[in-house]
Parts: sequence; C-alpha cells; structure tokens
Amino acid sequence: MKLVFATHNAHKLKEVQQLLPSGIELLSLEDIGCIEEIPETGETLEENAKLKADFVTKKYGFDCFSDDTGLLVNALNGAPGVYSARYAGAHKNAKDNMAKVLSQLAGVAEREAHFKTVVHLNINGENHVFNGIVKGVITEAEQGDGGFGYDPIFKPNGHDLTFGELSAARKNAISHRGRAIQKLVSFFNNRQL
Ligand code: IMP
Repeated sequence: MKLVFATHNAHKLKEVQQLLPSGIELLSLEDIGCIEEIPETGETLEENAKLKADFVTKKYGFDCFSDDTGLLVNALNGAPGVYSARYAGAHKNAKDNMAKVLSQLAGVAEREAHFKTVVHLNINGENHVFNGIVKGVITEAEQGDGGFGYDPIFKPNGHDLTFGELSAARKNAISHRGRAIQKLVSFFNNRQL
C-alpha cells in the first residue's frame, strides 16, 4: 500500500521507510506533487499534526501520517511548545531560539522540560494518534553541536550528555520522535495490510 509521510525531509522519510513493513511504500510530499506550504495554524501539537495529515488526505486522497514536535519547558508554562520552530521569530533560527530559552531561564533553578512528538495517521477513513515523550533538563549553556533545534541545551534524564553531544543513533533510540514512530511501526506490524 502507498502511504504519504507529510514531510519534505528526505532523510526522515528514508529512516521511517526502513522501519516499516515491506508492504508499505512511503511517499513524500514531493512524490505526490504537494509543494505548497501546509498551514500549521493549530494551538497544540495535536491540532497541527491533524491539520497536516488531513490536508493531504482531503486534497490528494492518500492515506497519510504527519508528525509535529515541540519542546515544553515547565518553568515557562509549556513554552515554546507548538511555537518551537519560530520561538525567537519567523526566521526560525535555532541559535536564537536556544538563546531565548536560556535567557528566560537565567537564574531559574527548576529546569525540567520534555520534548513531545505527536504522530497523526489517517488510514482507510480511520485516524490514530501516537505520542512520544522524552523528559530531561535545560542546561545552563549550549553543549555540543550535533543534532538540530534545541538539542545542544537539552539533557535527557539518565544521561550526562545533551542531545547535541549524543550520537544520532543514541538520540534516536530514546527520543520523542523515535518513540512516536516506534508506536506507528508497531501499529502496522500488528495490522493486516
Ligand atoms: P517539527 O514539528 O519536527 O518541525 O519540529 C518543530 C521544532 O521543534 C523544530 O523546528 C525544532 O526547533 C524543534 N525540534 C523538533 N524536534 C527536535 C529535536 O529532536 N531536537 C531539538 N529540537 C527539535
């Protein structure tokens, strides 16, 4: 069966394709000719994930899943949350986003945070939602330059290194996105295609 992953990121697509049963042919947005910007106007990760998957299913007629991720910092009442990509402005700059979080947490002792990924799947007229969470703390300064986004300032619980210092393989094994995608993969492994 053909299944669209509502992403423009070829690397993400390849990674997930390798985890899914061989009966599933994963297509990207480019593969189905969807080159427009899909509106992400929701106020929660759940809403945005649903908006993206529904856009593809309604307009292009494909079964589809999408993912939406945010960093939620306890002392900031869950910010940057759904605004993670553009926390410091519409230019979506990771360094500026990290600097904003660090300055808002200057002198704040309570540094707990978590990443959350929501995967929304539309299949045969049904929809299913899978969540992945990783808990940790925000460091006092950037550590490491691996990964992307907020990785250099997020230290997962039980580790001495930030996501910016851990290898991609070790990050994927415990990450929010890795966990949500694993639930999606289990769903397909347990289902007759
Ligand atoms: P998206 O929903 O995957 O596009 O993620 C939205 C934003 O959350 C990104 O632009 C990053 O700022 C942040 N983000 C998502 N996943 C990660 C991650 O694994 N590490 C660090 N930041 C992330």
